[in-house]
Amino acid sequence: MRILSGIQPTGKPHLGNYFGMMKPALELQEQGEAYLFIANYHALTTIADPTELRDNTRDVALDFLACGLDPKKTAFYRQSDVPEVTELTWLLACLTPMGLLERCHSYKDKTARGLPASHGLFSYPVLMAADILAVQSNVVPVGRDQKQHIEVTRDLAIKFNNQYGEVFTIPEPSIRDESAAIPGLDGQKMSKSYNNTIEIFGAPKEMKKKIMRIVTDSKALEEVKDPDTCTIFALYRLLADAEAQAELAARYRAGGMGYGDAKKALLAAFEEHFGPLLERREQLRQDMDYVEDVLQDGARCARALAAVTLQRARQATGLE
Ligand code: ADP
Ligand code: TRP
Repeated sequence: MRILSGIQPTGKPHLGNYFGMMKPALELQEQGEAYLFIANYHALTTIADPTELRDNTRDVALDFLACGLDPKKTAFYRQSDVPEVTELTWLLACLTPMGLLERCHSYKDKTARGLPASHGLFSYPVLMAADILAVQSNVVPVGRDQKQHIEVTRDLAIKFNNQYGEVFTIPEPSIRDESAAIPGLDGQKMSKSYNNTIEIFGAPKEMKKKIMRIVTDSKALEEVKDPDTCTIFALYRLLADAEAQAELAARYRAGGMGYGDAKKALLAAFEEHFGPLLERREQLRQDMDYVEDVLQDGARCARALAAVTLQRARQATGLE
């Protein structure tokens, strides 16, 4: 089974990104032939500053490698190192009905938020279809917001195959369960747009300050507290083992423990989990040649597949 997913290089990952997207993506490398790429062509639809795009792309590579991406198991690459996808985008664009793209929520949402309505932003789903179809992926794990784009991909693949003969594998989406969104400092869903994030690789001092700022109810120290409705505990649960969780839950329910103590326990668990990863990230940062090698190797692997697909598609359409 071939599994492919892409990630946009859009900034520093927070706990919501880590537990909601990065960790599940890394678990996939155990389940099949995995391809993961940094969607920098896609990011060009929203990032106009070259330094920002370059830095973000490097950062996301460091983030994933530090968090345990194993290049032996996952072909990890920059989208722009597989230029076959842009040629395939054109072949697909020529059979993409305008109406199909006009119905896409993400374009409407992004322009409503004030992003310039470029051709690139509009045809974003066609580029995404090319990413997926180029490597003939069977499964595409994504968040719920990307489900429609996978449907567009399937529609285009089916249409192409009907019109020109069997060239593409029809991919299946695998939608991540996002019912349990990770809460942020204020208890709402953790998100860059709500300014309530805890960055997994933030400066330790700042992250400490942020954790100490988590909003709680105003129960007094001696009062009994409910771990199940507390943001501190919700985050602690993600980081601590079962025994440590049970122990802290018992202290909540016994009374006599202030939220400050719970925050200290959370901070310790956070540092224990991310400290070694941060160290590994620093080491990788000193060895960008290695990181570049990983990305080049991954691109070679993806390109080999994409070249075969493109050759078949060029022949099928009469370009050759
Ligand atoms: P943000 O909301 O901070 O802008 P993104 O939309 O860039 O985050 O998120 C990238 C991916 O990370 C999403 O597709 C989603 O799966 C995951 N994610 C983000 N925030 C959370 C959260 N609070 N809980 C669970 N998953 C999340
Ligand atoms: N659009 C996806 C996102 O914003 C990223 C992406 C680009 C992608 N190409 C893809 C995801 C192909 C899966 C498959 O999250």
